[in-house]
Amino acid sequence: MENNADMYVPAFYAGRSIFITGATGFLGKVLIEKLLRSCPDIAEIFVLIREKKGLSVRERLKKMLDNKLFDVLRNEQSSSLNKIIPITGNVAAENLGLLPAEEQMLIERVSVIFHVAASVRFDESLKDAIFNNTRSTRDVCILAQRMKKIVVLLHISSTYTQTDKPIVEETLYPSVFDWRKVIKVAESVDEHILRIFTAKYLGTMPNTYTFSKRLAEQVISDYSDSLPCVIFRPSIVIATIDEPIKGWIDNFNGPVGLFIGGGKGILRVVLSDPCASCDFMPVDVAIKATLLAAWKRGIKTIAEDKTIDVYNCASNDIKKIDLRNIVQMAFEISEKIPLEGIIWKPQTMITNNRFNYFCWVLLLHILPALFLDGILKLCGSRPMLLRLQRKVFVTNNALSYFLLNEWTFNNDKLKLLFDDLSADNSRDFGYNYRYIDIYDYFKNGLIGGKIYLLNESMDLEAARAHRKRMNWLDTIIKTLFFMVILWMLYYKNIFSYVTEILYYLSANIR
Ligand SMILES: NC(=O)c1ccc[n+]([C@@H]2O[C@H](COP(=O)([O-])OP(=O)(O)OC[C@H]3O[C@@H](n4cnc5c(N)ncnc54)[C@H](OP(=O)(O)O)[C@@H]3O)[C@@H](O)[C@H]2O)c1
Repeated sequence: MENNADMYVPAFYAGRSIFITGATGFLGKVLIEKLLRSCPDIAEIFVLIREKKGLSVRERLKKMLDNKLFDVLRNEQSSSLNKIIPITGNVAAENLGLLPAEEQMLIERVSVIFHVAASVRFDESLKDAIFNNTRSTRDVCILAQRMKKIVVLLHISSTYTQTDKPIVEETLYPSVFDWRKVIKVAESVDEHILRIFTAKYLGTMPNTYTFSKRLAEQVISDYSDSLPCVIFRPSIVIATIDEPIKGWIDNFNGPVGLFIGGGKGILRVVLSDPCASCDFMPVDVAIKATLLAAWKRGIKTIAEDKTIDVYNCASNDIKKIDLRNIVQMAFEISEKIPLEGIIWKPQTMITNNRFNYFCWVLLLHILPALFLDGILKLCGSRPMLLRLQRKVFVTNNALSYFLLNEWTFNNDKLKLLFDDLSADNSRDFGYNYRYIDIYDYFKNGLIGGKIYLLNESMDLEAARAHRKRMNWLDTIIKTLFFMVILWMLYYKNIFSYVTEILYYLSANIR
């Protein structure tokens, strides 16, 4: 059993050379960590990294491995980290920007590819989105075709590539556009002209990210005749539920961002449908499923089976939760585990009406930001809140399409990956989604955000005292506000002005 690759997941990965793009990202890091920890006989992992911010690929790899995510591995199997081999590249460049010698090494040795890299910016230019997300997938396929030992190519897509369908099945959908022509256009048309045509190109797609990722699925489809492929579509991937540490996260996306923005008193209004269900996946669960999906495809040869396995890595019916409940939970949790240096009493409201949203943003985000920035300026500090609120506004607008609509991502194949597991595989790759405790999970997510994103301590005494002060300040300001209103109503006789205006209006309309 232990040596049977068809039966035992680690046996399938044993002795293999693996190639990963996007290794420095959120999913990529968890993938590497899990591979090394749970498949200890892996031969080597080649990770494609680009030079960035003046750091070489080796420096970037070292910095990545310093992340707390790798603490367990460093303590228990530190030598396994030597199996990671950096490869210089850039997926936005043709042929992935590979150096000839390194390219040859990949061709000779790699048998499993995880294509994870992508530009995940929703406001990326069409040109860059196509280069990063569509052409890169083509170039990964071309490279894979030249690999002598390839047994599986797993492409990470997104459930949101199919936003024009209310129900998204675990299947490939035809595309309206020919990816070859779109790549040609991106290569030959001037950036400025392309910007003008972007909206026309996108059609019903909400942004260049979903558009270019959707085309990437078509690329995979067209190469699946000669390559054993998997399309793996996560929904929204958030903090770890369990492994290797609870609540680990490296970005502010999803509910953790909401918990932190709300918990700091910065995010007070969100444009969203409060009743729409949100689909989230813990990153460690998504990665377990990724490894299982690659294993399932890898044990079938392309001669036996040319079909592409498509999975929606979505929680769908596993656990449903709407944004109103998330915000309620965030409020309760942030009361028990307050964040440090909050700028106001945490309280976030949700509206699905754009006009109301703009009014509330003005009242609850912009005016307090101006006021507090003024105080900062008077104290000789750098004003920052208006800038921060601008970012919050831009982000909420970019996300509003996803927050105002709801989709059903069918996930039967994904669930089968876990349900079909033998007891031996279950130990390291199982996930009992039926018993997930959402409150506990989000609580750990907030603690993870506090520790890993904000570098805050879990000694809560000072944070609690500050929170109490902010609660008082909030009560005092609100009481003063209502007293001023009452004063205006009674002493300034606002009622008579209002009645006069109404009388004037009704007389004129008649
Ligand atoms: N996170 C989610 O909720 C979610 C949901 C659905 C699907 N996905 C998919 O999952 C994958 C990973 O997402 P993520 O959340 O891990 O994103 P991420 O944290 O932003 O990581 C993106 C990775 O891609 C790399 N990359 C981007 N452009 C590159 C380039 N030109 N050359 C080389 N590497 C490049 C980044 O490298 P640098 O470090 O050099 O920037 C990074 O390693 C993506 O394909 C995304 O579409 C994610």
